[in-house]
Amino acid sequence: MSAIPANRNPDYPVDEMFPARWSPRAFSDAPVTEAQMMSLLEAARWAPSAANVQPWRLVWGLRGDAGFATILDSLSAGNQAWAGQAAALVVMASKTMRTTSTGEEAPNPTHGFDTGAAWASLAFQANLSGLVTHGMGGFDKDRLAEALNVPQGYSLHAVIAVGHPGDPATLPEALRAREVPSQRKPLPEIAARGVFPG
Ligand SMILES: Cc1cc2nc3c(=O)[nH]c(=O)nc-3n(C[C@H](O)[C@H](O)[C@H](O)COP(=O)(O)O)c2cc1C
Repeated sequence: MSAIPANRNPDYPVDEMFPARWSPRAFSDAPVTEAQMMSLLEAARWAPSAANVQPWRLVWGLRGDAGFATILDSLSAGNQAWAGQAAALVVMASKTMRTTSTGEEAPNPTHGFDTGAAWASLAFQANLSGLVTHGMGGFDKDRLAEALNVPQGYSLHAVIAVGHPGDPATLPEALRAREVPSQRKPLPEIAARGVFPG
């Protein structure tokens, strides 16, 4: 597992995998194998979802694949500046409708929430495997959906860069300064007993 960054000190006991996961932009040239990717995708597969619908759909490519280039091409310029160095890119999408217990097609209100759980599972498995991930919302959803022939009824949520941690010195200067593990709001600001926090 990747080490916990020195500036990340949880206030309460948690497994070290939580503060150890963070989102760097510097990736080494080292490739990720298909077998390593299968582990990450398998972790996503075991995420919980409402009524076990498993609405997530993932499209992935290794650097050098045509699919990787297609995904990279959809990213904002700011993300393209670093994400092309990642070993793999994964698109997190989800099916927006579900079949109800009475057999009708109805909107699935939790498809995005559930797919967030799948992304988190993938990210934590990556860290446990010594890899790093970086989620991105900065991409052209319509363009990517068209390029990947995504059928109607699916939403694209994020693109995930996956790879081995790299040297921040390889980043453009503006990004190098931002290559610092982030902090978190104090717990009472986000959780309270019996009342809404804040
Ligand atoms: C859904 C989502 C979208 C994000 N979009 C971007 C993005 O487009 N570009 C980027 O550099 N980082 C992006 N991030 C990374 C976040 O800024 C980062 O996860 C957040 O600052 C917390 O830091 P940490 O992941 O290192 O703990 C995104 C993260 C998530 C979960």
